[in-house]
Amino acid sequence: MSVEQPKVCPNQAPDPSPERMPSHIGIIMDGNGRWAKERGMPRSAGHQAGVETIRTIIKECNRLGIRYVTFYAFSTENWKRSEQEVGFLMDLLVLYLRNEFQELSDNGVVIDHIGDIEGLPPVCQKELLDAYERTKNNTGVHMYLALNYGGQREIVDAARRIAWEAKNGRLNPEELDEKKFSTYLYAGDIPSPELIIRPSGELRLSNFLLYQAAYSEFWFSSIAWPDFTAQDLRRAIVDYQARDRRFGGVKS
Ligand code: FPP
Repeated sequence: MSVEQPKVCPNQAPDPSPERMPSHIGIIMDGNGRWAKERGMPRSAGHQAGVETIRTIIKECNRLGIRYVTFYAFSTENWKRSEQEVGFLMDLLVLYLRNEFQELSDNGVVIDHIGDIEGLPPVCQKELLDAYERTKNNTGVHMYLALNYGGQREIVDAARRIAWEAKNGRLNPEELDEKKFSTYLYAGDIPSPELIIRPSGELRLSNFLLYQAAYSEFWFSSIAWPDFTAQDLRRAIVDYQARDRRFGGVKS
């Protein structure tokens, strides 16, 4: 006689507590190329699979009530890749925005971006601005695609704007503090990411949200981005919720 075993799925990750949900999650989508290589496929297939993961993760963020999620999609350093790969990523961005627009919008997602998008091909700029314009009043998760984005460049751009405002008498340098400075960053005055996730085994920030990451909690994993699931996201949030965040203070 066989005894029926309880159905336990080893991959099942519980829902995080709604109490300490991060308001902003940053994600460094890494490992697409290695994922493809392991399967004998071109790097482009890894990026394509990565788009599917974005779709899954956005849905899960929406379900969990996360307010902001920033996906690192193309850095200021990624121009060093082959012309073919860069071209593929730009085309993929346009396809992503066209193909996913309706579903994202129906789910209340705001489709936004950070980074120096003037450096992107005109068609990418147009699709990004258009997607934002058409979704800016949505009330679901606010998605930022970080494109031609570099944390150092973001800080330099902010400093340059501040310098001009001071020069033109619109800003008193004495009034500048950390909070005021952050309003000059690309996304302005949104909460800093409480949690930054980087899959694929690399343990670095790679110029992502340098100013905003001052007190972020990091969650690293060896899973490649195309294999990253909603359960992995929940696991990361549950781990985050168990962290002791002291912000330089001491526990009372
Ligand atoms: C890093 O993996 C990934 C990128 C530089 C691109 C990320 C892009 C996507 C997930 C898809 C395109 C995005 C949109 C919004 C359409 P890697 O290529 O460095 O992987 P590797 O380290 O294994 O080589």
